[in-house]
Amino acid sequence: MTAILERFEELHPNSLRLHRRAADVFPNGVTHDIRYFTPFPLYMERAQGSRKWDVDGNEIIDFVMGHGALLLGHNERSVQAAVAAQLQHGTHYGASHEAEIEWGLRVKQLIPSAESLRFTSSGTEATMMAVRLARGYTGRSTVVRFSQNFHGWNDIMVGAPDREGVHPHAFGIPDESLANVVVVPQNDPETLRQTLKEEDVAAVILEPTGAHFGEIPLDPAMLPLLRETTTAAGAVLIFDEVITGFRASPGGVQAATGITPDLTTMAKILAGGLPGGAVAGSREIVSLIEFGAGDRGEFGSRIPHPGTYNANPLSAAAGVAALDRVATGEPHRHANALSRDLVVRLNDVLRAAGAAGCAYAHTSMFHIVLGAECPAPVDGFDWDWQGRPGDRVPRTAADVVWALRRGMLNERVDLMGSGGMVSSAHSQEDIDHTVQAFERTILQIQNEGLL
Ligand SMILES: Cc1ncc(COP(=O)(O)O)c(C=O)c1O
Repeated sequence: MTAILERFEELHPNSLRLHRRAADVFPNGVTHDIRYFTPFPLYMERAQGSRKWDVDGNEIIDFVMGHGALLLGHNERSVQAAVAAQLQHGTHYGASHEAEIEWGLRVKQLIPSAESLRFTSSGTEATMMAVRLARGYTGRSTVVRFSQNFHGWNDIMVGAPDREGVHPHAFGIPDESLANVVVVPQNDPETLRQTLKEEDVAAVILEPTGAHFGEIPLDPAMLPLLRETTTAAGAVLIFDEVITGFRASPGGVQAATGITPDLTTMAKILAGGLPGGAVAGSREIVSLIEFGAGDRGEFGSRIPHPGTYNANPLSAAAGVAALDRVATGEPHRHANALSRDLVVRLNDVLRAAGAAGCAYAHTSMFHIVLGAECPAPVDGFDWDWQGRPGDRVPRTAADVVWALRRGMLNERVDLMGSGGMVSSAHSQEDIDHTVQAFERTILQIQNEGLL
């Protein structure tokens, strides 16, 4: 057994005990794909601010941050108070309530494309609804998405059918469900133009910072091009801002870049760490949900939208409190500055260790590549996209990612994959600790011959 693995098992006996129980209950013993961990995942007991504590008493600096939902950190005071107050009044009225209006108004104030919106229970539901609205609105079927961009797990968002109609990577999904999905490289203007010309495209959907919240960065020149070409083709442009909404800026990527999509999908920070999503956009499109819409539209009936937990009072209360903090821009200033410091110093560590790789970030979302040559980061921080078309981003080998994650957990730092999210609750001390933890972990990975 490697030294990193041995230490991991030594530090986490109670997690191993719980995992043995869970293995009999859940596939792989986990309840979300990205919580899958070998040799076993850690079990948490509580969380506060930038930290969480596991069942073995380890105090861990958290960069998973509720899978990106917690821009304000764990248990932020105003969110906690709002949820506690709402609990006194009930968790579900099965009826309309004022907090949902307050919540919706804040989304409208922050997100430029949001003339009208509907709340959903998750990001997956939001992307499903956005595509349905686009197809209903245009009367067309084809959906274009960018390779490796993630939009949840509904049928048409999984797998990668190629231009010849072969769908090799969508186990459990009939080919017919993917027949109208075209996946194109994200940084390839020509293929995009060609696809919009050849196909009757209802919608183009993308993560507007690039696949996996910028792990494969989108060439910034693609956004204006997307706006221009989708408008010309009569296709609906959908920004999936489930992660970037309220994080890339208070108004998401669209407020930061001035490029306004027709529809936007949101979740995570939207609901302050509680379950919730939304689809927002032009009133003309979103109003296809309205009763009576079928009488107006050219293409048939309205689009139904039930959902037991849509705009539930607890999520609404948390969302209102969180978006009030988001609106100040202060959480972003703090988190972005720490993210920049972290990334610059992680690159220093790699350079000093003579290890191939790099760290880079977009605002508070950071990524680490190990064991591969990277293009020079601009200002030690972001990628230089000049002359780098296509999606060729260096990848870290899977065994190195595991070694990194286990090694960092041994040092009491939890990464999300090989990157993470900085929150407004993180401190300079957290960043200093993380850099030192990284330095020690890189050395161990090198000692194990993986780097
Ligand atoms: C960009 C993006 N879209 C959609 C989703 C799906 O959201 P949910 O997990 O709430 O269904 C995610 C989840 O991480 C996401 O990152």
